[in-house]
Amino acid sequence: MNIGIDKIGFSMPNRYLDIKDLAVARGIDPDKFTKGLLQSEMCVTSKEEDIVTLGARAAEEILTKEDKEKIDMIVLGTETGIDQSKAAAVFIHGLLKINPYARSVEIKEACYGATAALEFARNHILSKPNSYVLVIASDIAKYGIGAGGESTQGAGSVAMLIKKDPRLSILNIDNTYLTQDAMDFFRPNYSPYPFVEGKFSTELYLNCLELTWKRFLKENNKKIQDFSAFCFHIPYPKMALKGFKKILPETMDEKEKENYINNFEKSIFYSKKVGNIYTGSLFLGLLSLLENGNLKAGDNICLYSYGSGAVSEIFSMTLVENYKKVLRKDRINDFNNRTRLNVKEYEKIFFEKIKIDNEGNANIEGNGEKFTLKEISSHKRIYNQ
Ligand code: HMG
Repeated sequence: MNIGIDKIGFSMPNRYLDIKDLAVARGIDPDKFTKGLLQSEMCVTSKEEDIVTLGARAAEEILTKEDKEKIDMIVLGTETGIDQSKAAAVFIHGLLKINPYARSVEIKEACYGATAALEFARNHILSKPNSYVLVIASDIAKYGIGAGGESTQGAGSVAMLIKKDPRLSILNIDNTYLTQDAMDFFRPNYSPYPFVEGKFSTELYLNCLELTWKRFLKENNKKIQDFSAFCFHIPYPKMALKGFKKILPETMDEKEKENYINNFEKSIFYSKKVGNIYTGSLFLGLLSLLENGNLKAGDNICLYSYGSGAVSEIFSMTLVENYKKVLRKDRINDFNNRTRLNVKEYEKIFFEKIKIDNEGNANIEGNGEKFTLKEISSHKRIYNQ
């Protein structure tokens, strides 16, 4: 049975900060961010947005009424959860009015969560072939004002409908994974921002890639030429570029390299404008590649997933005939229609805390738009439907 991605959607906040403005405000050479990290913009959320609102909007972009009736499982990967007990997937289930006879759960392992969710989805469909599973990766990356990772912040959500006989890509059964217990990036419950060993995290990312890649090739008896394109977890585009260079053999001839490089550049195109969206970053890279790259049905795409802590996984997918038909062609308009913030506005909006009174109530004073946070009443989050 072929199981894979039938449709893929994306949502992001409609406000952004130009990374050069941030550099100037912090007294840093803008080239460090634009050339050193390859970042150009970052998405900025406001109080009425969270991983539920972003996830619901990403899913709404792709789901029909019929899909909502057929979905019997929602798995959401995140590391910016809104509740220690209730899964964000349950809120989204309610907002989207999904079939009640569904399972809804949240998965966590830093930026790796949604990759595990995909595997969960595939196994579910293997035992229930007519199931539709909604996989969502939703995160808001905040490092804090003036923090080392500030220029790599971002926010967004990717939603994927997983089913048998998918119209976009078939998930191949070739996953190779690795765990290394390390403290490169982590966020204890008492801290709003992560603790990061920046340099160490970049080394671990590459070390895990090297180990997983070698084993992946060996376990599956594959070589690089078996894949037409690569997608990497993108904490910032330059990190993915370093990963890409690590696996491209130096001996590969320039002509052969050219196509890989072109497709790689297409895979980082959206992330340059969005920033790190943690568990969704790999799949935003995939969406960017699919909507802008030069690929055809039958091509294999290899994906590297990395979550600090650390867990990594390499797996692949094969594009299906007419896959372009289920993709949007006009997404660039969404980027162009966002509002550009200045640094003062960004600092006010992004780091504004919701003030909850003694009874557990908060007025969000949002814009009332569909799928935004409306209020908190007796500690309960209530969303605009
Ligand atoms: P830093 O100290 O700000 O920057 O840390 P740097 O000094 O390392 O410089 C960065 C690059 O800019 C270097 O290029 C410089 O040469 C260059 P490289 O040598 O790497 O190719 N540069 C310049 N280029 C042009 N003109 C200039 C200039 N100045 C410098 N004037 C760091 C950078 C990424 C460490 C920091 O931003 C950080 O801590 N980020 C957060 C952590 C992170 O993203 N780690 C990535 C791996 S871990 C991961 O992927 C998991 C994660 O997504 C979380 C999860 O799993 O949940 C983060």
